[in-house]
Amino acid sequence: MSHDLPRLDDAIRSYYDRRPEEKRLSQGASQIEAARSKELIQRFAPDPPSVVLDVGGAAGAYSFWLAAKGYEVHLVDPVQRLVDLASARNEDAPRPLASAEVGDARSLEVPDGAVDMVLLLGPLYHLTTAGERATALSEAARVLKAGGLLFAACITRWASLFNGLVHDRLADPAFVTMMERDLETGQHRNPDEFPGYFTTAYFHTPDEFRAELTDSGLGLLGVYGLEGPAGLLGDFEERWADSRKREDLIRAAREIEEEPTLMGLSPHLLGVGRKR
Ligand SMILES: C[S@@+](CC[C@H](N)C(=O)[O-])C[C@H]1O[C@@H](n2cnc3c(N)ncnc32)[C@H](O)[C@@H]1O
Repeated sequence: MSHDLPRLDDAIRSYYDRRPEEKRLSQGASQIEAARSKELIQRFAPDPPSVVLDVGGAAGAYSFWLAAKGYEVHLVDPVQRLVDLASARNEDAPRPLASAEVGDARSLEVPDGAVDMVLLLGPLYHLTTAGERATALSEAARVLKAGGLLFAACITRWASLFNGLVHDRLADPAFVTMMERDLETGQHRNPDEFPGYFTTAYFHTPDEFRAELTDSGLGLLGVYGLEGPAGLLGDFEERWADSRKREDLIRAAREIEEEPTLMGLSPHLLGVGRKR
């Protein structure tokens, strides 16, 4: 595989070069994103050993979890720093990844029909044109075996609005400018690289996301809201630390996971598709 760094928006590369993405899923409301993503992956995934390609796998949060279950996992990410972290962790892993390489969702260096599952948990929201997202989805479909599964995530259109309310950011004019653009166009930009305001991305409406997945030609098994209202709760951390209350948060998210009128509450949606 080529080790030339993939063509990536400068702001995205700089964000992941500086921000500790490797810790994100163990902090704050991202913890319910991780728990629910794993729940949904387990709901559909074939038994191990099957071959998994984790595209945009970062430092391997989902890759190492699946490898520990006995899957053959290959991780791809365009950010060298994150791939290096995955490779370092792999040296001591009891069940290591089969590979961790620099690569890009738009051009996978994987043969046709080689894998049983593709995780696309990140690339689609960092590809800001419909054409690039279609290319990434078509690459995912190409590398899947017939009957193989795609798990793809998006960020929803109202994520900044809700995040701004929870963190009381609507008094910050820079935040409001960014949020209004999100709401009008879905195009999220943080040109001054304010910490905590994320980076270049596209935020989907649920209908757009469903349409893009359907257009990929995969059979759509479902689109699911991941977090539900959990991230709106000011005392999320305290509730998450209490096992009974944590189950309630997860239950609330699960109860409304396919309810069209409530899907946009979740900052992330997970689409599941099967190659015909
Ligand atoms: C928010 S992180 C998500 C990481 C992990 N998959 C997760 O769900 O927690 C987004 C990831 O997408 C990666 N990414 C961005 N653009 C990409 C592209 N064109 N192809 C593949 N991965 C990309 C980033 O480098 C980053 O690791």
